[in-house]
Amino acid sequence: MSTALFPQHVIARKRDGFELGRAEIEAFTRGATDGSWADYQLSALLMAIYLKGMTPAETVLLTEGMLRSGTVADLSSVKARKADKHSTGGVGDKVSLHVAPMVAACGVAVPMISGRGLGHTGGTLDKLESIPGFRVGLSMDAYIKQVRDIGLCLIGQTSELAPADRKLYSLRDVTATVECIPLICASILSKKLASGIDVLVLDVKFGRGAFMKEKARARELAVALTTVANSMGTPTRAVLTSMDEPLGHAVGNAVEVAESIACLKGAGARDLMEVTFAIGEQMLLLAGCTKDRAEARARLEATLSSGAALGKFREMVAAQGGDPAVADDVTLLPKAGIIRDMPGEKAGFVVDVDPMGVALAALQLGAGRTRAEDPVDPAVGIDRLVKVGDRLEAGAPLYRIHANSERALGEANELMRKAIVIGETRRAPGPLVDEIIG
Ligand code: URA
Repeated sequence: MSTALFPQHVIARKRDGFELGRAEIEAFTRGATDGSWADYQLSALLMAIYLKGMTPAETVLLTEGMLRSGTVADLSSVKARKADKHSTGGVGDKVSLHVAPMVAACGVAVPMISGRGLGHTGGTLDKLESIPGFRVGLSMDAYIKQVRDIGLCLIGQTSELAPADRKLYSLRDVTATVECIPLICASILSKKLASGIDVLVLDVKFGRGAFMKEKARARELAVALTTVANSMGTPTRAVLTSMDEPLGHAVGNAVEVAESIACLKGAGARDLMEVTFAIGEQMLLLAGCTKDRAEARARLEATLSSGAALGKFREMVAAQGGDPAVADDVTLLPKAGIIRDMPGEKAGFVVDVDPMGVALAALQLGAGRTRAEDPVDPAVGIDRLVKVGDRLEAGAPLYRIHANSERALGEANELMRKAIVIGETRRAPGPLVDEIIG
């Protein structure tokens, strides 16, 4: 090892504001993977990056180093174009569950490697695992075979994929270095590009219910993500979407799967379908399968009216060991002990539904986790949630709670009451899709 590559020298160079080169960044990602850097040295460099930032060139090198710390899935045996999507996450965001079969039903393969949520509800994997028997832990060979056979597979991050990210993310979580655009960028892209895709669409959310609250910061992240991914050779676009109320009517795990199945049957909520079509259109366009947005939209709509997307969902569930009958009968999903409609008191219009209030209620019920090792309760959550702009009669239900104890129901209900504001004048919900970047 040349002296310049001792961890303390790399840390000092970033601390002093210099741009790191390939060898230095590779030493860091190798050190995170093989243990040759101690946790305190990795953490010190993470903090220096947090404070001093990284140039686009450094961010590309970091992403490449993290990507190459593990295996990259070889999907060359899949003849179709391969598109994936990733969302930076928001309350009630279940778009992956139904947009993936819609796009796959258009002939574009969707190999999706997703995460578990650390927050108010589970992530895509937790939601899928609420389907009885569904397995997200397939081997790399089984994943490749399923993408080849049915053009759709949704699995969890395996230990072979981007191990440097797993190590660095766990340190960022406990060293106050999560909210750093170059680190977020390398973390997201190293995992996504390891899944063997041709093109990528990102849903970067801003607003009260999103990971990035401020639009300007979310836009900065979207620009960084698309710049880095495109310069690494993967055509990528970001859809900047606002999240000021929960997406759709359900927040939880099984309740969100049921809502996604409703979307596949053509009965999705307006806001949820607006985001779904925006993402799906960009996936088809980038994959080169349609010439413009109008054609992409028509093809996606046709997958719903023909039942092709629901059929794809059924095929995926069956291939991954789940009960495909859930696609036709959502009562087969896990059921909470108490399911209760909660009425409002006064008549009027819904003028606000605070997504973080709803998120906290879902967490209180047990739908999410506060520590990575915690289990989630698949059955609990909130559905039939009113939307901003809805007109209500006195005593009409505002939402339905799925709980496994009266105590949890009472606590969640208090949080829900505070989250919803009823007024006398109708406030129309704003548009959700703000900008397409890249
Ligand atoms: N999601 C990730 O995978 N990584 C981050 O750094 C932030 C969100």
